Amino acid sequence: MKPTPSEHPALDRQFLERAVELGRLGWGRVQPNPMVGCVLVRNGVVVGEGWHEEYGGPHAEIVALSKAGPDARGATAYVSLEPCRHHGKTPPCTEALRDAGITRVVFGAQDPGPDSGGGAAALADYGVEVSGPLLSMEEARRENPGFHGSPEDRPWVALKLATSLDGRISARAGLRSTISGPESNERVQWLRAGFDGIMVGTQTALTDDPRLSVRGDTRPLTPPKRVILDARGQVAASARVLDDADGTTLFLTTASSPAPWRSSIEARGGKILEVREEEEGRLSLVETLRALRGEGIRTLLCEGGGVVGSKLLQQRLVDRFYLVLAPKLLGSDGVPAFPSHGASRRGSGDGGPGPLGEWTLIEDPLRLGNDVWMVLEPKGV
Ligand SMILES: NC(=O)c1ccc[n+]([C@@H]2O[C@H](COP(=O)([O-])OP(=O)(O)OC[C@H]3O[C@@H](n4cnc5c(N)ncnc54)[C@H](OP(=O)(O)O)[C@@H]3O)[C@@H](O)[C@H]2O)c1
Repeated sequence: MKPTPSEHPALDRQFLERAVELGRLGWGRVQPNPMVGCVLVRNGVVVGEGWHEEYGGPHAEIVALSKAGPDARGATAYVSLEPCRHHGKTPPCTEALRDAGITRVVFGAQDPGPDSGGGAAALADYGVEVSGPLLSMEEARRENPGFHGSPEDRPWVALKLATSLDGRISARAGLRSTISGPESNERVQWLRAGFDGIMVGTQTALTDDPRLSVRGDTRPLTPPKRVILDARGQVAASARVLDDADGTTLFLTTASSPAPWRSSIEARGGKILEVREEEEGRLSLVETLRALRGEGIRTLLCEGGGVVGSKLLQQRLVDRFYLVLAPKLLGSDGVPAFPSHGASRRGSGDGGPGPLGEWTLIEDPLRLGNDVWMVLEPKGV
């Protein structure tokens, strides 16, 4: 049966937005499931709210129904995702909604899952009035890119860079320097928690010796895999990224990296993944991303540096760009965020970078301390 359109679009949208907002509280705790929220409303009054708090735990609808108790009878359920109709880790939400006496369901995104999807039709068969999907594919993907937008052959990729006003990511090559403020750094910790993998280029690994771990208040249920691009095996096995490594720190390399280096990385719990070499002896990024997808990474946060970021941008492999602008001027000694040598020479004719595309702000810029956070996606997507 076909879902019916909403009769109260403004009100429905308002409660649905609340459901989406609640879903976000599951950031870092639910992947590979999507973040989902639910609001139960009876006679205009909210009688229960809930969200999917943890992978394997109860779905948002079940949490909201248990909060509402008998008040759920005759209520409308606003759910950010089409309620599931299958026996997965938990019983079908469609049956729970029916059994609790829910008379109407308004849902946001359609569930693309071959088993879990189809809940709207099941609810309609039970005699429940159904409206949805109210979210467009684009809105659904922005909310849960790993679930709605992850391509088959690579992860959904976000690039994050903190730059000075004059487009520099460090004060000098080979120097670890602080660009953004403490509030931004706290947000980076939160951001990391929601990704399956965090990646940096060779120079960043050598200069910053980053741990690429999550150390903020939001602790991921499954820590993101740490990924180092190291075509020739330059990063020492004493690198901090290998502290506590248990097979989840991945080194992408080419056939040219020496065997003793590989053994030293493996001896500290790192995993070597070999991919094809491209121009200038660098890793093929397409193959790198394919290999990471093969490791179960559906969402990847690349934290630079500029060379790797620009290569990804040039090859149109960036799905979201977190650009943190810090009010500093670092001058010409600074490391460029968008170096021309990071770009493909093919097609640009002059060895320069060529266009890196146009971008759209997908949410209002956020001021964090003295920094401005921009969240951008390629225009026209
Ligand atoms: N402010 C920020 O947000 C931020 C973030 C990260 C880093 N940083 C700073 O930026 C500096 C490092 O950045 P960077 O731009 O010089 O270097 P980078 O992007 O970290 O590393 C570039 C290197 O990665 C290796 N690589 C392997 N495969 C590649 C591929 N397919 N495409 C591109 N590179 C590939 C290459 O090393 P080989 O040619 O040797 O193989 C390349 O030179 C450091 O000073 C660091 O502190 C700042």
